[in-house]
Formats: sequence, C-alpha cells, structure tokens
Amino acid sequence: MSLNTKLDEFCRKLPKVELHAHLNGSISEATLSKLIERKLKDFPDGVELAVAQRTINKGQRRTLDECFAMFRIIHPLTDTAETIYMVTCDVIRDFAEDNVKYLELRSTPRHVPATGMTKETYVRAILKAIEDCKESMDIIVKFMLAIDMRNTLEGADETVELANKLKDCSNGVVVGVDFSGDPKAGDARSFIPVFQKAQSYGLKLALHLAEVPERNEETLEVLKLIPGRVGHGTFLLPEDGGNQELVDVMVQNKIPLELCLTSNIKGQTVAAYDNHHFKKWYDIGHPISVCTDDKGVFSTTLSEEYSILAQTFELSQEKLWDISYKSIDLIFADEKTKAYLRGVWEKERENVFKLS
Ligand code: IMP
Ligand code: ZN
Repeated sequence: MSLNTKLDEFCRKLPKVELHAHLNGSISEATLSKLIERKLKDFPDGVELAVAQRTINKGQRRTLDECFAMFRIIHPLTDTAETIYMVTCDVIRDFAEDNVKYLELRSTPRHVPATGMTKETYVRAILKAIEDCKESMDIIVKFMLAIDMRNTLEGADETVELANKLKDCSNGVVVGVDFSGDPKAGDARSFIPVFQKAQSYGLKLALHLAEVPERNEETLEVLKLIPGRVGHGTFLLPEDGGNQELVDVMVQNKIPLELCLTSNIKGQTVAAYDNHHFKKWYDIGHPISVCTDDKGVFSTTLSEEYSILAQTFELSQEKLWDISYKSIDLIFADEKTKAYLRGVWEKERENVFKLS
C-alpha cells in the first residue's frame, strides 16, 4: 500500500477507538528488543531468542499457523508479572501516541509456575499498569480477560470467575471476556456454558467467530447468545461461505464486527485488501469498528489501518471520521464514557479537518 502523506497525517490526527488489541500481539519491536536483551543478560545462551528477534520482520505475509507460532516466541518473554506490567505500559503509550483516545485491551491470563506468576497476578499487573498510565496519558483504557480456545472448560470457567472477581474492584476497567486463540484448535460451542455465566455476571462478550471457513453451525449456535461484539466474522456472508441465517442474526441483533484488515491479509484468511468483507458490511450500514488485532506481530498501527481502508475503498476523510465517531457506540464502557468521548471528538474535529 503506497504512502499518502496527507491522508496518513489525517489518519494519525483522527481521534480513534481501538476495540480489538491482544496485549502480547501488540508489543512493538522496540519493546520486544528490550525484552530479548533482558533475557539474554539472564540467559546468555539464549541463542533461540536471538534468532527469534530477527523473525519479527515488517511487511511479510504469514500463514495463520505461522502467526500463532509468533506467540510461542513472545510468551516466554513475558513470563513475569513485572514484565507484563512493563509491556502493558508500553502498549498503552504506543496507542496513546497514535491518537487512540479509547482502548480495550484483551489478554489471556497465564500461570507460569517457574516464575511464580499466577493468572491473578498476571491480570493485576495489567490493571495496575492501566491505573498508573491514567495520570500521564490522554487515553481511557479498559480490559477483557481472554479465554483461549485450547483452554479446558474448567480453565475457561476459572477465567470467568477471575474476571467477575476483578470487575468489582477494578473501578470499571474490567468490562468483559474475550474468546480467541487458534481457531482450528477448538470448538466455540463447548464454551457456551461459561459464556452464559459471563453474561450473567454482567460481563460483555467479544468472541472471535467465523475467522476460518466452514464453521457455520458452530458460529450460528454461539451467535444465538448475542455476544456484545464479534471479532473478524470473515466467513459469515453467503458469498464467503457463510449463509443468510448467520447474516440475519448479525443484522437483526446489530452485533458489531471488529474488523482487522492487515491481520486478515497477513494471516491469509482474506486474499487482498479490496476483497475484505469490510465493504459489504459497511455498505449495509452494519456497526463495524476498525482494529489492529496484533499491531506488533502484524507491524501496523490503527492510523495505518484507517489509511489503508481509505485508499482501498476510496473513502473520504468525512467517512473515516464517521467510522471512528460511530465506533464510540460500540465500546463496552458505560454511557457516561461514551458521552465524554463524543465530546472529545467534537472538540478535536476542527483541528483534524484544518489539516486537510
Ligand atoms: P495475549 O492473550 O495477550 O497473550 O495475546 C496473544 C494471544 O491472543 C494469542 O495467544 C491468541 O490466543 C490470541 N490472538 C492473537 N491474535 C489472534 C487472532 O488473529 N485470532 C485468534 N486469536 C488471536
Ligand atoms: Zn484477535
């Protein structure tokens, strides 16, 4: 995608909402290098890590399997609560510097017996980072605990219980539960009881669904829970291998879609930007938000995603503004936060358009 300086500058200045960002996938190359250096100091024989550093390259396409392999490199680098705190601060700062005004981060709590990190200390480190960033950064940050598709039902239940426990002492920061991980590794239907439990606790659901083809029955059954938002939804439309029933549930219930263009291109679930399902959902006025998914792994920023969208589908700056502004309706935070954000957008509007 060619660079268009004026458009890029507009997209950077545009106030933005990021609703689909996995913490460990969002770590920048700079932060990753910092982590690798630290590890190499402790374990000078960590040749594997030195090699890993060179595999984090910009610009390539990878298969979905190769994308997931990236997390096998990153996760051992973030295996203490202290590191999780540090990377959370860095990731929030990256988004704030990209003029993201509201961010919903998500992450899979991990228990690492070797370092003493538990699922609870993992999440508490993230919540502390979010709290500490409040003072110095102009961005509102919320958090979702993620269930990995490879989790056992018991493990997923533990995550929902932890989300519920921490929701009550997080001052509104914990807003929901995510369901993600290698889509080929599990079946979302087996987690329906824990999804229902999360809903009964007042936690919102952001579920990766129809990220790969031939999942129509599974997707339909889970969609009937009416999740708060769906991640990707690449294979919902009949022409993409989905069916009308899936589209009807999405449309009738106005279930918003979190669309991550570069992630889908690099993971090769979508062949080219101009084939992306964004266009069809956008054209029927369905609620959508533009997201990065894993800005570190996929070497992107939310501003770049807006710029790519505009260039691919010939969208005016006014239309980009509308997409960003309407994303406020889709956040999991309360009405007061939405009203506050609308005020921020209205205040910034003149300044953003003055540039163009
Ligand atoms: P973490 O939850 O902060 O450790 O972020 C990395 C995790 O997010 C991965 O291990 C996956 O479970 C999940 N993830 C990241 N990108 C994707 C995606 O494109 N599809 C499904 N799951 C993903
Ligand atoms: Zn994702």
